Amino acid sequence: MIVDAFGRRFRNLRVSLTAACNYACTYCVPDGKRLQAAEYELSAPEMARAVSLLVDAAGIEKLRITGGEPLLSPKFDELLPAIMQMPLDDVSLTTNGQLIQRKAEVLLSSGMRRINVSLDTLDPIRFREIARGGDLETVLTGIKLLHSAGLKIKINMVPMRTRNADQIKPMLEYCLAHGFELRFIELMNMGHLRAQGNQYQQEFFGMEEILETIGENYEFTRTEAPYDSTAVRYEIPDRGYFGIIANESEPFCSSCTRLRLSSNGYLYGCLSNAVCHDIKPILEMDHHQAMARLQTMLVRTLADKQELSFRGEVTVMKFIGG
Ligand code: 5AD
Repeated sequence: MIVDAFGRRFRNLRVSLTAACNYACTYCVPDGKRLQAAEYELSAPEMARAVSLLVDAAGIEKLRITGGEPLLSPKFDELLPAIMQMPLDDVSLTTNGQLIQRKAEVLLSSGMRRINVSLDTLDPIRFREIARGGDLETVLTGIKLLHSAGLKIKINMVPMRTRNADQIKPMLEYCLAHGFELRFIELMNMGHLRAQGNQYQQEFFGMEEILETIGENYEFTRTEAPYDSTAVRYEIPDRGYFGIIANESEPFCSSCTRLRLSSNGYLYGCLSNAVCHDIKPILEMDHHQAMARLQTMLVRTLADKQELSFRGEVTVMKFIGG
């Protein structure tokens, strides 16, 4: 097993099926930019081979399918059952929820137990302003469908000062009422946010203010979270849980176990480092040679991790799936 000086190893793999997305969220892409698939994307069999090699070579235990929007990718239907056959403890998916109804059969028959849906507001007008694509009702209907089929639901919300900070309480109430766990993701200084003046500083609405806002209506206590969990978790007695992914306020780099595979076949060791490693040549090798080459590549990829904190990067989330 490959372990670094901080005792970190790769345990969680995040696979981005496509960079394409049917949203154009303000925090992800600049105005007027269309979201397109990468010019070359791995095919479903190539991706399945890459994942299977990575599970073996890195000792991956948990896998998350991301994007772009993964349900947009024609590869999803073929890849999901292949991934579900692999020796993994946990497989999940992050989606914006627009296509849940269309993909319900594939999702439910796969045996997947839980799913994360990105949703930043319950207000249809705000929704249009932030996501710049899709439709709120469709997301809510999709969530309901999966929940009634027994899947565990987490909702991801990125609070921003001028756009949806006032939605923190309504979102929390909605999630508590339905038994979903709400996770606030602190705005990350990525892509165009980093390039465009002080937009990031203006919009950042961090852990302290999130907790202050919630504290106006709820009592809560901080609970224990697993060693390599990215979220700080809180319990609201008799109601449920919520979490904060506090990239900025409480960086979790020193216990990060994540490895990312982009839709065009590159490995990323760190969300805050644009360095990446091309896995494609390895996919053509026989198993023995592929494993040897991959081990070497994984040592380099692990060394790409930041030591202590997220520093922001020009990389856009849609390419490497967050
Ligand atoms: N900061 C924080 N979260 C982001 N996401 C995308 N871009 C950013 C950003 N700059 C989130 C999406 C989704 C998850 C995969 O990443 O909202 O929930």
